[in-house]
Amino acid sequence: MQEKPSTPSPVGSTGTPQPQPPPRERKAVTVPRLRVMKERGERFTMVTAYDATFAHMLDEAGVDMLLVGDSLGMVVQGRDSTLPVTVDEVIYHCRAVARGTQRAHIVGDMPFMSYQVSPVEALRNAGRFLAEGAAHSVKLEGGEEMAATIRRIVAAGIPVVGHVGLTPQSVHAMGGFRVQGRTAADAERVLSDARAVEQAGAFAIVLEGIPLDLARRITESLSIPTIGIGAGPHCDAQVLVCYDLLGLTPTLRPKFVKRYAEFYRDGVEAARRYCEEVRGGEFPTKEYSFGAGRKRRRKPKPTGEPSLKVAGYGPAS
Ligand code: KIV
Repeated sequence: MQEKPSTPSPVGSTGTPQPQPPPRERKAVTVPRLRVMKERGERFTMVTAYDATFAHMLDEAGVDMLLVGDSLGMVVQGRDSTLPVTVDEVIYHCRAVARGTQRAHIVGDMPFMSYQVSPVEALRNAGRFLAEGAAHSVKLEGGEEMAATIRRIVAAGIPVVGHVGLTPQSVHAMGGFRVQGRTAADAERVLSDARAVEQAGAFAIVLEGIPLDLARRITESLSIPTIGIGAGPHCDAQVLVCYDLLGLTPTLRPKFVKRYAEFYRDGVEAARRYCEEVRGGEFPTKEYSFGAGRKRRRKPKPTGEPSLKVAGYGPAS
């Protein structure tokens, strides 16, 4: 069930109806289902999300997993690393994402120092992501040194996603955000970290910032799905930060990011036009005002489609 690159519009530019792809299956994405996808060689997708509106949009697009990443520290909070992010903050964003999601599997990212001190403390914090954040699983960074912690969390019935290679919470130990596993010895280290994470019971693993041949080796030698970011095309799945994918980070253009839209550029242009129209007295017209004598509109019949509540005052009258 590989994603189609784009959905053709129902009516072409000539007005001729175009062939439509089959409607995407809306069944919830579960851990057993992701395992089966690896067995069948079906690729899947993960994208980060931090709020209900973006979650709703990505879920509707058919993204399989939504990661409430600690990257929120950088893209939402404007910090220069993920280190200051707290458990409470990620849980807050998890709850918002859960409210906007119907189908995707939601992963809560365990922030720095929420799982490194002891397996018991890690378990207590991991439980909060499911109980308070409505996440379906948690993700944590690290390899062999995290095996006992992963085992403890998994034994409590909490699914875990591992994360090896470039691990942003170790930015200072790595001397910056650097590609890992470039030398033969370092590649062996990353591979044995990935094996340790699998043996500890993780159901999937993120491979970040490693050469594509190493990612292929790891993907071929593990029975759990690998989710690549900056790790080339041979992983079972791919993950991108939604702000990168949608073009919301104007000054940051990492090599591994493909921008599928230019939301920042379009947002600047939209806001510029709004300012111009307000200053020039073109907005709001009567069409956007109350008491203009229009009849009350009938409430539309429910369609059964997932909906997201938006702010408003009801029908204009
Ligand atoms: O926090 C995050 O967004 C991540 C992804 C980059 C995998 O960990």
